[in-house]
Amino acid sequence: MGLMDPISAVIGLALTGNTIEKEYRALDEAIRRTERLVPEFDPKTYDARALARALDSWERRMVFEHRSTTVFANLAVQLFEANASLDAKTVMLRMAQDEVRHTETCGQVVIGLGGTGEVAADVAVPPLASHRGVSPEERALRNVIYTTSMSEMVAIAMLVDELDQTKDRFLRDATRRLLADEVLHGQFGFLYLEAWRPWLDAHPDVKGSLGRYLTHAFKVIEGVLGGPVQAEAPLSEDELALGLHSSARGREIFYETMEHAIVPGLERFGIEAGKAWKERRLLEGGTVPERPRI
Ligand SMILES: [Fe+2]
Ligand SMILES: [Fe+2]
Repeated sequence: MGLMDPISAVIGLALTGNTIEKEYRALDEAIRRTERLVPEFDPKTYDARALARALDSWERRMVFEHRSTTVFANLAVQLFEANASLDAKTVMLRMAQDEVRHTETCGQVVIGLGGTGEVAADVAVPPLASHRGVSPEERALRNVIYTTSMSEMVAIAMLVDELDQTKDRFLRDATRRLLADEVLHGQFGFLYLEAWRPWLDAHPDVKGSLGRYLTHAFKVIEGVLGGPVQAEAPLSEDELALGLHSSARGREIFYETMEHAIVPGLERFGIEAGKAWKERRLLEGGTVPERPRI
């Protein structure tokens, strides 16, 4: 994806102030799963270093959420090319919308933590992996598996762990609201596979091809999320209370989720995920979509 020219922008929370904003609020109210219960952050008990790290982490999350929207929006287009069912296409578009709403949730946290709510970001949209030579049906399956059954499942596990650890009420409330949507995002791939099971059973060659794809995709996601543990100072009590976690903890959660949830989950559909995980390696010409983030 290094071929793309970056587009520098500042993303923020400004809205139109007209009927588009009204419509956005109505939509948000209709599809959100939980209310915002703790609107104010109380910084007085935390040290400045911990607060600065939390602010940095939520600013980065804001950018990732914003970018995830484009992944799901592009994936919705691939679902049209695969002639997926209407509900699958609509829910994929809903997931794209969720990530815009999450951008706002993160921006509110950024402001709560003392930031401006405006963050510099590269808004160039890399194309989704097109898997040359693969049918539109399999292309959609590959990208759905990578982005939801893999990336979003790991994201859920990380958010659950974060929620367990976070003591701050304001941050717990925001994390809980993100998680409420992410659970659907992580389940989507398995539900989509369930719907496509008859088609997959009629196309055993595609099951084999998906297994080979996973050999590559597992190695890619391991590079992104299971990377080496960085040398870092142990987290302070304040940092833990604000939900920050170490790279070692993130790595542990990644392997637990891959081996105990994702691989067995994919095996249920006759895809040789266990073998692919064991033999994971980068394959010539293999591609994966840009990783969506929570
Ligand atoms: Fe998500
Ligand atoms: Fe999200």
